[in-house]
Amino acid sequence: MTDQSHDRLLIIDFGSQVTQLIARRLRELNVYCEIHPYQNVTMDFVREMAPKAIILSGGPDSVTRDGSPRAPHEIFDLGVPILGICYGQQTMMTQLGGKVVSGHGTAEFGRAYVTPSAKLDLLDGWFDHGVEQVWMSHGDHVSEIAPGFEVYGTSPNAPFAITADVDRHFYAVQFHPEVHHTPKGPKLYENFVRLAGFSGDWTMDAYRDEAIRQIREQVGDKKVICGLSGGVDSSVAAVLIHEAIGDQLTCVFVDHGLLRKGEAEEVVTMFRDHYNMRLIHADEQDLFLDALDGQSDPETKRKIIGGLFIDVFQKHADQINGAEFLAQGTLYPDVIESVSFSGGPSVTIKSHHNVGGLPEKMGLKLVEPLRELFKDEVRALGRELGLPQSFIGRHPFPGPGLAIRCPGEITREKLDILREADAVYIDQIRKHDLYDEIWQAFVAILPVRTVGVMGDGRTYDYACALRAVTSVDGMTADYYPFSHDFLGETATRIINEVKGINRVTYDVTSKPPGTIEWE
Ligand code: XMP
Repeated sequence: MTDQSHDRLLIIDFGSQVTQLIARRLRELNVYCEIHPYQNVTMDFVREMAPKAIILSGGPDSVTRDGSPRAPHEIFDLGVPILGICYGQQTMMTQLGGKVVSGHGTAEFGRAYVTPSAKLDLLDGWFDHGVEQVWMSHGDHVSEIAPGFEVYGTSPNAPFAITADVDRHFYAVQFHPEVHHTPKGPKLYENFVRLAGFSGDWTMDAYRDEAIRQIREQVGDKKVICGLSGGVDSSVAAVLIHEAIGDQLTCVFVDHGLLRKGEAEEVVTMFRDHYNMRLIHADEQDLFLDALDGQSDPETKRKIIGGLFIDVFQKHADQINGAEFLAQGTLYPDVIESVSFSGGPSVTIKSHHNVGGLPEKMGLKLVEPLRELFKDEVRALGRELGLPQSFIGRHPFPGPGLAIRCPGEITREKLDILREADAVYIDQIRKHDLYDEIWQAFVAILPVRTVGVMGDGRTYDYACALRAVTSVDGMTADYYPFSHDFLGETATRIINEVKGINRVTYDVTSKPPGTIEWE
């Protein structure tokens, strides 16, 4: 269902893995857009939506194949600007009377350079230095442009890399302007929406209202349960859903005894007292810690935690009569591999998601109000919903919690030491105003005791490793280059303030080859 109060842009999806990035680029420009799989786009639908412009996405098929996807032909008679990207460009050309070929010399994958052939408004701000880098991913290419089109840019294997019929405001590019590797891509989108007359009236505030409307529509008067981890994603999802349906939502917060210092109290106080949410605080520390007793294999630990988590969650959720929906803070990067253009979203949730498997087991339908958003957008939405900055800006924390920061056997004693050391470390980082520069920082307690000397006595205590990394998405990471002064001061504080640790090391491994967590 379309929001009719804003300028609207329709993205017709031919199945590219990066179609959502187009939407993201447009949201950055405060443009409201909707992605619809090409099969669902009838002309009745288009007329009802009345988009101010249309974008045809890329896709895996070849327009040279009989029966390959096409845009509804009448969109070209609507008089609205249309931008065709990659496959979208090729179907546009084919549908308007040009030709596409596949074969030797028509493919281009990866980085390519486009040279301008003539000046085009769509490319304002491009070609300051003669050529522009773009990202190509095509097997076929346009060999003959449609009547009315002119060439504005070429690349080695795409003689018609940029073409346009300026009178009709039809633009066609062979490359992907939405990806990071087309550095001037955002400018191209900016020019396109400017040429199409968008006023930029779509903000996070509007997004929130729209999301609330959709949640109400999906859920009706039914009940929803939400696993609250205290992390940013599930918190934002919970607050948003609570705004939409109030007490129809119950959150379950599973305390597995592997949380950071003060974390459980903080979450319960904030959501129960501040937000007035129905919240079940499942204090199951003994259950988890007893099951983990003596376990040191990382995968076994994860399996135990994951399995118990599901059992505990289910036990508490079963007490909520008539719940039909399970809310999850799934983000777009979680679904990126399975962006579906077949109409039926088939989500591959990362295996390490804590409640993966739950919906099937409990026969629940999913509510995933963040599944179109990226992490920074979730944070922006969280701010819009009034969550405190200290909460929104929190570093990611893994589902298995401190268990994977305690290599070797997990004991209550080691967890207590780890919690204290971690609190001092984070305090240091905050005091030095470094928290927001760092993607994630934590202490790992090592399964080794070392000899030290404190006062006049010998100590024989645990060693720990400090970890701090920068990253954009957690997929790759660099260690954070703390100053020696900072490291020295932090080591001294930890050893002085935390009983049980007498040696501090700093982990300088990037990812790859390391991972962010120690297990
Ligand atoms: P790695 O250690 O694989 O971590 O470099 C990448 C990011 O994912 C987080 N992480 C997890 N999050 N459950 C989670 O919810 C898990 O099992 C899990 N393992 C790793 C990690 O903290 C980092 O942000």
